[in-house]
Amino acid sequence: MSRTKWIVGLVLVGCTAGGGSCIGGDTDTEDTDDTDTQDTDTDTVPCPTVGTSGERIACIVALDGDVAAGFSFYDLVCAACHCDNGVGGCSLSDPPAADLTASVLSEENVVAFVLAGSEGTDMDSYAPYPNQQLSDVTTYVLETFISP
Ligand code: HEC
Repeated sequence: MSRTKWIVGLVLVGCTAGGGSCIGGDTDTEDTDDTDTQDTDTDTVPCPTVGTSGERIACIVALDGDVAAGFSFYDLVCAACHCDNGVGGCSLSDPPAADLTASVLSEENVVAFVLAGSEGTDMDSYAPYPNQQLSDVTTYVLETFISP
């Protein structure tokens, strides 16, 4: 969606700068196109940013996770229990944190697990964090430990 807007933006800038050399050359048509694009944006249902619903899980999975940002988050928040190398057991958490390198969870299931936490264990819910950060850390964990 944002790419479409970017392209439309480029075309409009090109038309303005080119002084009528743009394709079609009809200002009315271009205005209509622009309005349509914005209408579509408005119609898009926003991603839930709280809770553990399936909609929120799907939204987080659909985001582009940034591995470098995910590493920083993991290092700060998760490594205390799961260790730098993901094998777990390097803290006093009860039970020892799971060995992520032995995990067989899918991306959806990792997001669901991280959102929900694990009741009765030291693994908290990370639902209060922003969707993008959860996407980043999930991408890092998947690409580094679960299915490298
Ligand atoms: C306080 C310790 C602690 C922290 C911090 C922690 N975890 Fe965990 N984690 C655990 C424990 C304990 C389990 C095992 C839970 C269980 O057996 O139900 C676990 C399990 C998991 C699992 C499930 C693995 C599997 O295959 O069953 C995933 C995925 C996971 N953690 C990811 C993370 C991520 C990502 C973070 C950081 C955002 C994180 N954890 C932070 C303790 C922790």
